[in-house]
Amino acid sequence: MKLVVLSDLHAFCSDSRKRPDGSPVIPPSYIDFSSPHRNRTQDPLIDFEQLIHHKHIDFPDIFIVAGDLGDKADPLAIQNVWRTLTTIAATIPSTDIYGSVGNHDIDTRHKSNKFDPKGFLRTLDPGFPFVFDPTKTNTILEYWANNFTIIESTNYRLLSINSCAFHGYGPEGEEELNHGRISDITLNEIEIALSKAVPSAPHKHNICLFHHHIRPISTDFFDDSSTMKGSEKLVQILSKHELGDWLIIHGHRHRSELFCPGGNTAPIVLSCASFAATRANDEHNPSPNQFYEISMDDAAIGTRARTLGIIKTWSWAPGIGWQSRQSIPGGLPIQTGFGFRGHIPDLAEEIARVITPVARLSWCELRRAIPKVSSLMPIDRDALISSLQAHDIIASIANDEIKELVVKK
Ligand SMILES: [Fe+2]
Repeated sequence: MKLVVLSDLHAFCSDSRKRPDGSPVIPPSYIDFSSPHRNRTQDPLIDFEQLIHHKHIDFPDIFIVAGDLGDKADPLAIQNVWRTLTTIAATIPSTDIYGSVGNHDIDTRHKSNKFDPKGFLRTLDPGFPFVFDPTKTNTILEYWANNFTIIESTNYRLLSINSCAFHGYGPEGEEELNHGRISDITLNEIEIALSKAVPSAPHKHNICLFHHHIRPISTDFFDDSSTMKGSEKLVQILSKHELGDWLIIHGHRHRSELFCPGGNTAPIVLSCASFAATRANDEHNPSPNQFYEISMDDAAIGTRARTLGIIKTWSWAPGIGWQSRQSIPGGLPIQTGFGFRGHIPDLAEEIARVITPVARLSWCELRRAIPKVSSLMPIDRDALISSLQAHDIIASIANDEIKELVVKK
């Protein structure tokens, strides 16, 4: 199964905002629908269309957009982004597209409606956050009514959660805007629903999508309190063995990260960089603009799907466009695996047994000899490099990838 994942486009239509001294603010995004000069090397969305058009990206089974399509609830920009992406998806045979509500998509500034912050999103054409398929349960209504829905397809199951469900509501509405939330009621309903759905079709890949992040990124200079409240319990639920393996995809903080937040059965989490936001008011963010191609092997019917695969990362530079040849510091490398669940020192020992007779192996040769090394996340790869030193094996790194392993003389 293949996925293309993008998040946090923050598109806008005009940038008339000014500082108190009258000087213009830095635009929030490289996608400015009001610009008469939109072109491939200056606008990530136009270049993305070109990548698809020229088949530089493998056609995916799923397009995922993890929220913040527009900036500060810009209605025209949100509509333009959604229409552009759904039009792209419609050109690809058998591709589904799934959006997610981001905090910048909710009209809590009441630009479009005095009293209904999500009203505008419900009028988007095609339907949002999913293109309405009358042959299926009306998942759009479920999403808005229950704050989550589960979409079943042939080879995947998508649990889509609205982490902005309470933005603009309640006596402490202002405070709700500062973070995401999944309520206890929603968590309980999700657990009940998954308990029925997963055992009946365990071969499907399980994807969980929402906007807010689940792990704070605080530093001495930046206090982060905007994580999705309730995310710890969500991780506990998705870690239950009987509810299958899960891949969580989220956006919000514009940080590229790939991690596993718990034990052997915990979900793998892809935290997405922004697709197109500038660093305006985000100077502590080390991640470049990125999007991701994910591939996972399908499981046979009757067997259990594994969250195990490869991520190819594309990075954006204004004036150049999207590229996947060079890893950019602060982001995910141009290629990484995920899903390895073993003990890193044991893997180092296994590698030592393979490499010792020949003294030198390229990473490609090692992948052929021990395929599971392909599914190491960056943090596990670093741990492996460290563990290999105990066996006098040195890894040579280029472009943020292991190129070769050599036994020290
Ligand atoms: Fe964002």
